[in-house]
Amino acid sequence: MNDLKGIILAGGLGKRLGPLTKITNKHLLPVYDRPMIYYPIETLVKAGIRDILIVTGGQHAGEFLRLLGNGQAFGLQHINYTYQEGEGGIAEALGLARHFAHGKKSAVILGDNIFEDDLKESVGRFRNQKKGARVLLKKVPDPQRFGVANLNGKKIFEIEEKPKRPKSDLAVTGVYLYDERVFEIIDTLKPSARGELEITDVNNAYLRKGELEYDILNGAWTDCGTFDSLLRANTLAAKRAKK
Ligand code: G1P
Repeated sequence: MNDLKGIILAGGLGKRLGPLTKITNKHLLPVYDRPMIYYPIETLVKAGIRDILIVTGGQHAGEFLRLLGNGQAFGLQHINYTYQEGEGGIAEALGLARHFAHGKKSAVILGDNIFEDDLKESVGRFRNQKKGARVLLKKVPDPQRFGVANLNGKKIFEIEEKPKRPKSDLAVTGVYLYDERVFEIIDTLKPSARGELEITDVNNAYLRKGELEYDILNGAWTDCGTFDSLLRANTLAAKRAKK
């Protein structure tokens, strides 16, 4: 099942979690009984994706190799790594995976996203999708913190990045399923007001082509970008571990 490449984005400075992130990378922080980065790896492996690249950056990139090695803890024989210079945003980090994706579809996951459910079904639907992209949405109480999908009937008509006044409560989670054209789209992006290449702009580019599909998740989901969401992630991971 090596048709889909797995790409984990684990760079950034994790500024909102200072001082926890002063001497380490956010994705190496503990979430219940394991380092954060274990969860997205496990999510991909559970969905049947075994060819994985981790994009990281900053001062502590070497620690990923020390921690994960070739991925034996996940039953893998090899993990690929690449390095993001600076803080150019999620879409820029994804751009560094072009050589790895090498004309294949990819399943992209943000290194701080923790899912209760197995993503096999969505990945299966994407495997059958001829072209385009697929995002996973989740109803949340605080949509202003995320990319927000606005629906018209059953179709997404726009995604707004962190809107002050969200028009819906459907957050775009940090799993993005893209066809091989995602890298051409990244080449056309301009930095946003915060100086980053935004993943929401990639999704909106697919939307304009009429090629953005979605699923709505039932199980719990959280990111770990803030102290409160990190606490939620710990609670979710503990609940899952005890199941
Ligand atoms: C990023 C994306 C946002 C998405 C979120 C999911 O936000 O920009 O669209 O909803 O991840 O975790 P960030 O965590 O970089 O603020």
